[in-house]
Amino acid sequence: MISEKSKQLIIDTAQVEDIVGDFVTLKRKGANLSGLCPFHNEKTPSFNVNPTRNIYKCFGCGEGGDPIKFLMEYEQLSFPEALRYIAKKYGIEIEETETSQEAIEERQIVDSLHIITEYAKDYYQKQMFETDAGKSVGLSYFKSRGFREETIRKWGLGITPAKKDGFTKQATDDGYNIELLRKLGLTNKYDSDFFRERVMFTIRSLSGKIIAYAGRTLSKDKKVPKYINSPETEIYVKNKVLFGAHFARKSIRNEDECIIVEGYTDVISLHQSGIENVVASSGTSLTVGQINLIKRYTPNIKILYDGDAAGIKAALRGLDLVLEQDMNVKVVLLPDGEDPDSYMQKVGRAEFKRYADEEAKDFILFKTDLLLEEVGNDPVKRAGLVKDIVGSIARIPDAIKRSFYTKECATIVGLDETILVTEVNKAVVEQAKIRQKEEERERRRRQNQSRPNSGGSYQQRGNSEPAHYPPMPGESDMPGMPQDIGWPGEENYGDTGQGMPPEHVEDVTPRRTSGDAFQERDIARILVSSGDKIFDPETNTSVAQYILTEIQEVLDHFDEPLYEKIARNTLEMLVSKKPITDKTFVQHEDEEIQTFTINCFSPVYGELSPGWEERGVILNTQKAPELNFTRDSVEGLQRFKLKKVIRMCSQNQERMKELGKDDVEQLMTLLRVQMKLNEMRDALAEKTNTVVYK
Ligand code: GTP
Ligand code: MN
Repeated sequence: MISEKSKQLIIDTAQVEDIVGDFVTLKRKGANLSGLCPFHNEKTPSFNVNPTRNIYKCFGCGEGGDPIKFLMEYEQLSFPEALRYIAKKYGIEIEETETSQEAIEERQIVDSLHIITEYAKDYYQKQMFETDAGKSVGLSYFKSRGFREETIRKWGLGITPAKKDGFTKQATDDGYNIELLRKLGLTNKYDSDFFRERVMFTIRSLSGKIIAYAGRTLSKDKKVPKYINSPETEIYVKNKVLFGAHFARKSIRNEDECIIVEGYTDVISLHQSGIENVVASSGTSLTVGQINLIKRYTPNIKILYDGDAAGIKAALRGLDLVLEQDMNVKVVLLPDGEDPDSYMQKVGRAEFKRYADEEAKDFILFKTDLLLEEVGNDPVKRAGLVKDIVGSIARIPDAIKRSFYTKECATIVGLDETILVTEVNKAVVEQAKIRQKEEERERRRRQNQSRPNSGGSYQQRGNSEPAHYPPMPGESDMPGMPQDIGWPGEENYGDTGQGMPPEHVEDVTPRRTSGDAFQERDIARILVSSGDKIFDPETNTSVAQYILTEIQEVLDHFDEPLYEKIARNTLEMLVSKKPITDKTFVQHEDEEIQTFTINCFSPVYGELSPGWEERGVILNTQKAPELNFTRDSVEGLQRFKLKKVIRMCSQNQERMKELGKDDVEQLMTLLRVQMKLNEMRDALAEKTNTVVYK
């Protein structure tokens, strides 16, 4: 484990412009930098990097955070991995705590596994490039398939010799642990090589580390399996890996589409020809893990099927899973006898592109056509087909898309649309129920699991869902419309293919317009943006101290939990004498607080309109906390207090009304309170230029 001291040092050292700059081309714009957002597809830069605050923020898609968050989101690193990345970049030596021997060993094993897979690649390549047999068998094979040498090197292709234990012997001679070689499946239990006389394909993680191998036989013998693969290990979880993803991800983002093919050679061939948004599922149907990998980059999938693909229908069935994830799926059937590799080699890039674009059919319509062709006029089979199609359509989370497909399919199948609509709606409710039950089961399972402390509130994407499944035990059988159930993806954007729409931008204004949320937010905003500033130099009082001593008594009266949390959290820091710095909230452990802080620094607050300044009027949306935090604090506080006092006034009046006429003493007390409150209210109202309706 990384020690707390190292962790802090790393966090303090990381400069957002350095880290983001590793992946995004940034241009200076005044004090800030900007560039094309790496999280969504855009042509004009709306991605902002603020070195002073050490944060980034995209005003197009809403992504924002500190350097660590960037690495976690963009590189899909875990929190500790992000820390290690930064440490490496700045040459910071990491101090490991000895808390858990197990954790250290685990980490060491993972590191060792990576070192060995890298070593193996060197070995396989050396065999190919530097031995006669390698050159004449391996290299010439790849070249005969049209792979250029740079391609062969980029993809880490190699060969294993015929020798029984060439690799194992060399590796153990070089000091590598035989247990780990076995674990990686490179060595079998008889201590000989697992991969023998095969050309080798390296399989990488999304971030580019080698995690496994696939070996293709060169033998024509049908009894020999064409491909063999490494087993699953700590570093190779098959259903979360897509071959080629590391080299493809940039292009997937730019093209806003991910092409999926079956084979390793297909991926490499297409990449070599300049179509780089291609990955392979390696012969199996897509898993949710793989889809989620793609989903981070684009909602659009195009699947290329070999022209003679047997079992294409089985493959299509697997695609319902993709629909469920609200991806737009298209399929392309290649000409008979061709796979993507052979077709590319045959017709070249331009024609290949044209074909893939023009022949791409929407998955559901494609499926309908295909099934229809098969069932002919048999009424029973036709009913089966309708059920099948309805099942697929119902999986689409987006209601508008569903109704589009329902209409289209009704036409294709020659059914009355209203019938199909009814069927689809029934299926939607059915599936929602099933899902709800699954969620409930999952929720219980999670509840039973004790949650290990991850040392921070950072979470990998995908672990943080779902927050919107309200059913209590026993309620799960209640009939209900999908929207009652929290239909996943209901909040999703349509098929614009433009990444997240504006409404996905984290909102700085609270949804709620009633209550005191607005004033509360202002207080929270002042705390996170200027809490560290000195409010009164004479007494050395900070803004946070000033605000909190003034509002302590109303802490219980907050309407919005987040703002209350921020206030209480700050108070705790003050009480425990923890220093509040300009980084405290930007790097806050609590993700909600962190996000709120980052949103507070978005440009809507960044500029002070000159006209307003002169007239002494400041709009809520036109503050520059950096420039006028003292006045900002005073006024924010006054507005907040005014709101609370007004509420206390009316509460007090209510109490008076409820009081019996005989309870004179109590009434007098309340009257005195009322007078005091009214006084406070009027004073505050005057200060804040607010008209109060009494
Ligand atoms: P080439 O024939 O060299 O062009 O390879 P290919 O990728 O075109 O092979 P094919 O179309 O036969 O298979 C597609 C993918 O399915 C392969 O890339 C492998 O990922 C997988 N695959 C094929 N055969 C086997 C096998 O025998 N075992 C395993 N585990 N996977 C296989
Ligand atoms: Mn092939």
